[in-house]
Amino acid sequence: MKLLEVKDLRTYFKTTKGYVKAVDGVTFSLDHGECLGLVGESGCGKTTTALSITRLLPKGGEVMGGKIFLEGTDYATLTEKEIEDHRWEDVSIIFQGAMNAFNPVKKVGWQIAEAIIRHKGATKQEAWKRAGELFELVGIPAERVTQYPHEFSGGMKQRAMIAMALACDPKLIIGDEPTTALDVMIQAQILELLEELRKKLNMGMILITHDLSILGETCDKIAVMYAGKIVEMGTVDHIFNHPVHPYTKSLIACFPNIESEERKIPEGIPGYPPNLIDPPEGCRFCPRCGLAEGRCSSEEPEFLEIEPGHFAACHFAGKEGGTDV
Ligand SMILES: Nc1ncnc2c1ncn2[C@@H]1O[C@H](COP(=O)(O)OP(=O)(O)O)[C@@H](O)[C@H]1O
Ligand SMILES: [Mg+2]
Repeated sequence: MKLLEVKDLRTYFKTTKGYVKAVDGVTFSLDHGECLGLVGESGCGKTTTALSITRLLPKGGEVMGGKIFLEGTDYATLTEKEIEDHRWEDVSIIFQGAMNAFNPVKKVGWQIAEAIIRHKGATKQEAWKRAGELFELVGIPAERVTQYPHEFSGGMKQRAMIAMALACDPKLIIGDEPTTALDVMIQAQILELLEELRKKLNMGMILITHDLSILGETCDKIAVMYAGKIVEMGTVDHIFNHPVHPYTKSLIACFPNIESEERKIPEGIPGYPPNLIDPPEGCRFCPRCGLAEGRCSSEEPEFLEIEPGHFAACHFAGKEGGTDV
């Protein structure tokens, strides 16, 4: 059985101007121990996808359709009470702003121990011991469990946050821009740590980022998201070396030094993702696409398998002459 199956997920936000169709028909799956990278510009629906899976959507956000199966259990239909029992044990999430997520007046180790007591029914003594073990696992000396958040550097807080996410032995861990706020050196260390833990603990992982270049080393497959939809999905080799969707190609062009140590500031793709209250008809990337022709603005391209394990939604995908932009 698959660890996670997301089928035609639709998550909208109700606003005074109408529904924001933040996630609009997203389908993907993940095996035990597998890592999926979810990439796209800001505002494309990546966080909303993660919050739908963990059922942590803010007020106004609602799963309007589709299925989210975690080891066969349909998450979309669980009640709040039921989800409380599953969250952190089946699936846990590390947020972008995680570094400020610890309560400043409580010892870091105690915040982890509390979660273990609540979810695992451990005694206080057992929970402290486990917090120390988790610290060691993420590369922090166990004796630092009694320190307060202000005594930790940014990188250490992020490590502690990962320890917190691991506290209840989740089968799936979602990192939503887990390294974006960190400098490049620490970023590489945290990614390495996540990769090492995933293999050691055989967890499934979804790594969300706007920066395609960090996914090459860590992921088995990559899904490229644009305007609420996945526009291309495939192995790392497919996406990095044989991309077919003009949006994927543009993302790669944003990070020209993908292979090199020295990273340039991304220049960005001209224009902006569309307003998701009233997205364009046809292909949503059409207004920014150098290849677009008549039908692109009226006919929505199907998400098709163009070679085994490689999918794309573009009228030009798989056609000879290709999709060079
Ligand atoms: N609480 C909210 N209320 C209304 N719209 C929202 C809310 N959160 C996110 N959105 C909108 O949903 C879309 C997707 O956002 P998000 O999932 O945060 O994208 P990403 O993580 O890819 O940057 C954006 O258009 C964003 O403005
Ligand atoms: Mg986000």
